[in-house]
Amino acid sequence: MSQPASTGRAPGKVILFGEHAVVYGYPAIAVPVSQVQALAQAEGGPPGQGTVVHAPDLGRRVVVREAARDDPLATIVRLALEAIRAAPDPDLTVAVRSTVPVARGMGSGASVSTAIVRALAAYYHRWLTSQAISDLVYQTEVLYHGTPSGIDNTVVAFEKPVFFVRGETREVFWVGRPFLLAIADTGIESPTREVVGDLRRRYEAEPLRYRPLFEEAGSIARQARAAIARGSVDELGGLMDRNHALLWQMDVSCPELDRLAAAAHEAGALGAKLSGAGRGGNMIALVTEESCGQVELMLQLAGAVRVLITEVS
Ligand code: MEV
Repeated sequence: MSQPASTGRAPGKVILFGEHAVVYGYPAIAVPVSQVQALAQAEGGPPGQGTVVHAPDLGRRVVVREAARDDPLATIVRLALEAIRAAPDPDLTVAVRSTVPVARGMGSGASVSTAIVRALAAYYHRWLTSQAISDLVYQTEVLYHGTPSGIDNTVVAFEKPVFFVRGETREVFWVGRPFLLAIADTGIESPTREVVGDLRRRYEAEPLRYRPLFEEAGSIARQARAAIARGSVDELGGLMDRNHALLWQMDVSCPELDRLAAAAHEAGALGAKLSGAGRGGNMIALVTEESCGQVELMLQLAGAVRVLITEVS
């Protein structure tokens, strides 16, 4: 009897505080978003086909043995098979579906890679720690994004809020009181690699201008972490607004993100900021049970192509 198919899932994510500054070693906070998910299913394929990945939502079909060395889907399959000590290029079909929007700062690449690793590990009845999965996925994040901090693969693999300092700390932390976020999509692709690269060039040209912005973003992330752990949700709104202002000064916002942040405020959100690389992608707003309906409506009227309400807990 052939072996049944095995599945692996992973959530999307948003960065709550500290994007960009995190690339330079300052702290940041990210949380998983389970309303969007990647799902991978591994099952035996016809003899001799080798490993094939079908990812229709990404418009990709990849024959692993023919793929370029830097193809992220082929790379995560090769890395996962090596980590679980399976023979290379087994006859497997890996089908991937994903509702995580691509290039919107919601961790699509990390989510798809994590789901694939989990499906392959399940197929071979192997167990990998969240840290081991995160480390494998980081290697594909480099292919997608150039010089990623590692926060996306961490939050997606651990599926918990994380306080992250590149190369130093990865703390999964406790949320003292759950809170609601509205996540509004500008509909514009946010090219992480380009935005991060552009900011790096400007930082290298004018370190004295950018370093204080990164430092303050890091300090906000520390304050936010303490406030979230204490359950002092009221403090978060002001911190989000301040972080958005810093990101604006880093020149990674855009009129569409600013418009969504303003609309969220008008509708009663307690704070709002861009999330992720910026210049497109998503804006997040802190909302309450009472305000979330009105905020959602105002965001749609202000041009959001999609609004998700998610609970951080
Ligand atoms: C991307 O989700 C967040 C950035 O800080 C880049 C990174 O951390 O690698 C912009």
